[in-house]
Amino acid sequence: MKYIELPSGDHMPALGLGTYLSTPDKIERAITHALEVGYRHFDCAAIYGNEDDIGAALSKSYEKYPRKKLWITSKLWCDAHEPSAVLPALQQTLADLGVDYLDLYLMHWPIALKPKVELPQKQKDYFTLKEVPLIDTWHAMEECVERGLVRNIGVSNFSTHKLGVLIEDANIQPAVNQIEMHPYQQQREQVAFATKHNIAITAYCPLGSIGTPISTQDGRVPPPLLKHPLIATIAKKHGCTTAQVLIAWLLKLNIVAIPKSVTPERIEENFRGSEIVLDTADMATIAELDIHARIIDGKIFTLHNSPYTVENIWDGE
Ligand SMILES: NC(=O)c1ccc[n+]([C@@H]2O[C@H](COP(=O)([O-])OP(=O)(O)OC[C@H]3O[C@@H](n4cnc5c(N)ncnc54)[C@H](OP(=O)(O)O)[C@@H]3O)[C@@H](O)[C@H]2O)c1
Repeated sequence: MKYIELPSGDHMPALGLGTYLSTPDKIERAITHALEVGYRHFDCAAIYGNEDDIGAALSKSYEKYPRKKLWITSKLWCDAHEPSAVLPALQQTLADLGVDYLDLYLMHWPIALKPKVELPQKQKDYFTLKEVPLIDTWHAMEECVERGLVRNIGVSNFSTHKLGVLIEDANIQPAVNQIEMHPYQQQREQVAFATKHNIAITAYCPLGSIGTPISTQDGRVPPPLLKHPLIATIAKKHGCTTAQVLIAWLLKLNIVAIPKSVTPERIEENFRGSEIVLDTADMATIAELDIHARIIDGKIFTLHNSPYTVENIWDGE
């Protein structure tokens, strides 16, 4: 397994298991199988509503796979950005996951919502970033590190502009930015920024999250990445699957990949993606596929007279 070293000196496994939409009835089997085939990194979030099920599944395996050998990431939801809400939100996540520390805690979105709002339904559900500045939330996350409850902190869905502003006033530098990344969204600006500032990138939707079709700004719908003819050609050349090519592509770029699956065969297939080594020609072919398309575009935060727009979430990236 490849590891990415963070500024703290901790080593994050470069392949982890995503858990968004992993339903309670399938989680235990998924986690147990993932541990057996070699996963040690689990990507969780309070908003996924399944941290208690993940915690229950992990706790059954601690004898064989001790907590300190695992990497557990979770994310602070937007309704807990007020500094006084950060520690209680983290404590809830720790209790649900049944752990006494996280390896990595991420600010899930650069969006602040009122307490107990999962998804905004009306204008009053929003705080503006003037009312609850990102740096205030960040300082509260830093306190969680100081309390020993979290080993590393980072962000998710931050533009390079927002990261740059955060870095200026942060006491602890963000270790990770978790963003959407796959061949249709290659995030070159983010990768260059992250390299310059020693920030690791974790790629979500690494397989193109097959449930949601990708569309370009002019409305074209390209083939799902798992069925893309050029990815299929590369897969054939290496005697592997298209999912494995997509994972190998990220790992070759030193990006952390967190493919989600609750299907035992796919969990194993995806893990074996870390054994595939793409060559220069494969990388050049995939480089051509970038169409800057997002699956997760943040539009859910732009409705009901929101202070947030797609433009001000992504800062034009
Ligand atoms: N920070 C954020 O805002 C954010 C946003 C989105 C996602 N994430 C994280 O990133 C993780 C991954 O993203 P994602 O779940 O959206 O998308 P993904 O990992 O790209 O795709 C997951 C989908 O692909 C299917 N799949 C998995 N392996 C496969 C294979 N080998 N062959 C064919 N189909 C396969 C899964 O089905 P089955 O499960 O049925 O096998 C599931 O429907 C999430 O679970 C979450 O942890 C974070």
